[in-house]
Amino acid sequence: MRSWLFVPGDSSRKLEKSLSSGADALILDLEDSVAPSAKQAARDTTAAFLREARGVSGRPKLYVRVNDLTTGLVTQDLDAVMEAGPDGLVLPKAIGGADVSHLAALVAVREAEFSLDDGATRIMAIGTETARSIFALGEFRGASHRLAGIAWGGEDLSADLGAETNRDERGVFTDPYRLARTLTLMGAASAEVDAIDTVYTSFRDLSGLAKECREARRDGFVAKMAIHPDQVAVINETFAPSPEEIAKARAIIDAFEKAPDSGVVAIDGQMVDVPHLKRAQRLLRRL
Ligand code: COA
Ligand code: MG
Repeated sequence: MRSWLFVPGDSSRKLEKSLSSGADALILDLEDSVAPSAKQAARDTTAAFLREARGVSGRPKLYVRVNDLTTGLVTQDLDAVMEAGPDGLVLPKAIGGADVSHLAALVAVREAEFSLDDGATRIMAIGTETARSIFALGEFRGASHRLAGIAWGGEDLSADLGAETNRDERGVFTDPYRLARTLTLMGAASAEVDAIDTVYTSFRDLSGLAKECREARRDGFVAKMAIHPDQVAVINETFAPSPEEIAKARAIIDAFEKAPDSGVVAIDGQMVDVPHLKRAQRLLRRL
């Protein structure tokens, strides 16, 4: 999945629009984009939307962002939405694998209660929203077979750090956020799940978004979160492997299949060894 679009869970209008946005996944939000006074209405609106949207053919994956585990709101969130069988949940302010395991246990009970397939509900964790969570980024491995990916975010982290801003005068993330970004890549690779890049909040600036997508992809992210439907096409285009890349990956795999006893082969005058093979296999798995 290349694009994950946030949709405030209390906005019927945006929920309706999001279905035709072209996003690979929607994040129906019960957390930060919903005011405390609107939480129950958002749960009801989101559950109704899920029941309706599930049957739509060619629909995006439907994830619900619940509130964080320290709020005491997660039980009510799950009671409202799990019966409608979302494809997954997004866990904000996750502190490593322990929080993922905790949510997984709560989810397993509801899957049994609502006769859903055991393990069907995936979890995507946002793993960098507090200073504490940064130190737990290496602890996602083996937390739960439900874990689909780890995303990073710089907005809540800057609030936790008491920073004045998270980007410098050129618009580039400053060191604390670059560290969070890098550790997310490492944490996701070590847990063998997708690394998902943060939102680009200047939603009218599509060329700035495209640049950030290219940099993310270059470094190993396979997807980016979006806040506005206009961002989806740029994200999908950048993260989709090009026909040339697919052809090159197939050529590498073919070359190794023809030489099963070799650790290294030559293609078009270039040395190709096992790391290249792994990269090629990984790229084809994304198709
Ligand atoms: N999902 C679905 N539809 C959306 C949308 C979203 N995230 N953001 C905007 N739209 C819709 C609008 O409703 C509008 O449709 P309409 O003209 O039929 O009403 C259309 O797209 C164009 O929107 P636009 O006027 O350009 O933006 P806006 O001022 O209405 O909204 C935001 C701007 C930032 C408030 C809005 O994009 C938003 O709510 N984003 C999600 C925020 C969020 O969830 N944050 C939490 C994670 S960081
Ligand atoms: Mg937040």
